[in-house]
Amino acid sequence: MLTVEQVRKDIPYLQHRIYLDCASVSPVPQCVIDELVKFYQEHPYNYGVGDCEEAILVGKKVEAARASVAKLIGAKPEEIVVSPKNTTEALNMVINGLPWEKGDDAIQFNIDHRSSFLPLLRVGKRYGVTVKMIKSNEEGISDPEEVAKLITDKTKLVSVSHVNNIHGALQNVKEICKIANEHGAYSLVDAAQSVGRMPVNVQDIGCTYMAFPGRKHMMGPQGSGVLYGALDALNTLEPMILGIRAANEIGYTDYELAKSPKRFETGIFDCASVIGMGRASEYLMEIGIDRIRRHIEELTALFLDGLNKTPGTRYFGPTDVKRQSGIIAFLPKMDPKKFSQKVDKELNMIVKATAPGSPGYKEFRDKNIPMINRASFHYYNTEEEIEKLLSAIKKG
Ligand SMILES: Cc1ncc(COP(=O)(O)O)c(C=O)c1O
Repeated sequence: MLTVEQVRKDIPYLQHRIYLDCASVSPVPQCVIDELVKFYQEHPYNYGVGDCEEAILVGKKVEAARASVAKLIGAKPEEIVVSPKNTTEALNMVINGLPWEKGDDAIQFNIDHRSSFLPLLRVGKRYGVTVKMIKSNEEGISDPEEVAKLITDKTKLVSVSHVNNIHGALQNVKEICKIANEHGAYSLVDAAQSVGRMPVNVQDIGCTYMAFPGRKHMMGPQGSGVLYGALDALNTLEPMILGIRAANEIGYTDYELAKSPKRFETGIFDCASVIGMGRASEYLMEIGIDRIRRHIEELTALFLDGLNKTPGTRYFGPTDVKRQSGIIAFLPKMDPKKFSQKVDKELNMIVKATAPGSPGYKEFRDKNIPMINRASFHYYNTEEEIEKLLSAIKKG
């Protein structure tokens, strides 16, 4: 068990910054940095390349990383593809890899990220698939009942973001996936904003596929990402890229696809980042995922209470802290961009100013809100830091 103080000490970047933007990218602990340095100093090889001791060690470390990530989300190692460089790639692997047929349909949500929303729209155009969309309520929460109303026996995929990237609304993915399963549809959970900051268990959720990055709440390296899929479901996906390991040629005229995960892990991939991500998974489990979620929930409650008592500010997102993941959209009293620059300069604090850009943020645009601030909390943040943020907001 690692305390907040210990984790703060472990992350070099936190020694001179108050960091409230893990929903973009998180600073990483020294043990992850050590793995990256060790990789290039001691075994700068790649998966399946070479027969020397160092090359074999890289292979073993990649497999260990796969097992750690699997343990983190309650999967089996062979259900984990470690080659995607980010969430976008993993989502596209599913959406573009399914055996679509004209007349199929798919369901997505207005609060989904462009990384799934756009590829699904393209599938619609390319294959004659009807893409249906479910709108969330004012707090960013979608009702699974809407899925039950729209789903048909033609529905091939239900695609949903576990946690929204702007207002942090936590969706009832378990219920959504249950409805998909009952209708024989695949389900794809975009867990970019949940894995690492709350318990996420693929067995419990019951999803077919899940995508997430190493660099956000997992505190892993940039350029690392994961595609989870129940094994049969992974093997129904056509890989986007073919090459070494992904398939074998039959004579000069035909080929046979390898089984997953090999069929997706073709060519040289970023093994250093994969190994670093494996170390990050271990680190999260050393802290304890339940503790991380509890701590974030406490900070969130503190912040929402303070914001609520500050006239001239606005909050967008769930009011129930259990539905709020600790990724918070708000309007301070001043221009959001200026606010970010002010806290950066005066408090050494990083808070994002962002133009809500995804499909579901049409509502923000309709309300003439071109930009908001987003603060995202992690285990390494403290009540004192939240108080500092609140006091900066109060000052305006
Ligand atoms: C919910 C969600 N999905 C997908 C993405 C895309 O992630 P990546 O940059 O890892 O491709 C993001 C990025 O912020 C996100 O927040």
